[in-house]
Amino acid sequence: MNIRMRINRWTEARRTLIHDPSIRSSLIQPHFIVEGEGINLEIESMPGIFQQSVDIMVKTIANDMKSGIHNHMFFPVLDASEKDAMASAASSDEMPLQRVVKLLRQQFGDTIVLLSDVCLCTATIDGHCGVVHERVIDNDRTLPLLCEIALSHARAGVDYVCASDMMDGRVLSLRESLEREGFTSTGILSYSVKYASAFYGPFRDAAASTPTHGDRSSHQMDIRSGYSEAILEASLDVTEGADIVMIKPALAYLDVVREVSNAVDRPVAVYNVSGEYSMVMAAAKDEHSRQKMVTEIFHSFKRAGADVIVSYHTREAVSKNWF
Ligand code: PBG
Repeated sequence: MNIRMRINRWTEARRTLIHDPSIRSSLIQPHFIVEGEGINLEIESMPGIFQQSVDIMVKTIANDMKSGIHNHMFFPVLDASEKDAMASAASSDEMPLQRVVKLLRQQFGDTIVLLSDVCLCTATIDGHCGVVHERVIDNDRTLPLLCEIALSHARAGVDYVCASDMMDGRVLSLRESLEREGFTSTGILSYSVKYASAFYGPFRDAAASTPTHGDRSSHQMDIRSGYSEAILEASLDVTEGADIVMIKPALAYLDVVREVSNAVDRPVAVYNVSGEYSMVMAAAKDEHSRQKMVTEIFHSFKRAGADVIVSYHTREAVSKNWF
């Protein structure tokens, strides 16, 4: 079965994330998780955002839950020594991401929404999102590896695996693997419309995933491409079984968010990416101006048709009751 409408209805926390019209309920906080103990390292290009080890992250998120932040997305950050050509470390059940998800699921049950990034780029030596074979990213050899990573996240207990790699056919492969292994309530959030953008720079510092050669333009969308390609990407993902489709980046593509949300019948997410976050943090001279800028930006996402917003501003915005 490709489409299970019940996935987005599975828990009250999922229903609130997707259907509550308030900005507060729509927000997801991204996290960068590292190996070790007591690690809480601020990312230079993203003030207020940290790489954290499992122990610190569990405490941070327990605090977040108290302030009403219920939706959390995880990115693994690996040491260079753990990386290889096939990103094999990413699908190990013993990795910090899988461990933190397991602990949070035990602690918070169905009251938390846990989402995990599924891509190869944080675990491959060359930082590419797929397996490189004879100097090109080999789409079809990448798919089974993405499925291994997603299954490992599903075993840990995520609500949604988030496919950010932009390989063709990956949503269908992921859906089939999840079905085969009995994960019929695990959702897929697909980065359906992901542009080869210059706004991901700070993230690549945070996730240690800058490609050592070449770039991502053979799989991520050309920034000049038009609405029809965006709509086709999103529609293909919907037929392949995506439960939520995402547009990324957000600010330079709000027109695309509007077109896609008019065209597809599934919930739409936007990713307010690292470069957009860093711009606000650099431009706002104090908390008050930050609040005003973020408020204006989040309203624009809602107006464009976003149901769900992934943003590094989430913690400050929700804990200080800006929304
Ligand atoms: C991994 C991935 C990226 C982002 C999310 N998932 C980086 C990339 O594609 O290079 C970017 C997020 C951000 O900039 O905040 N493929």
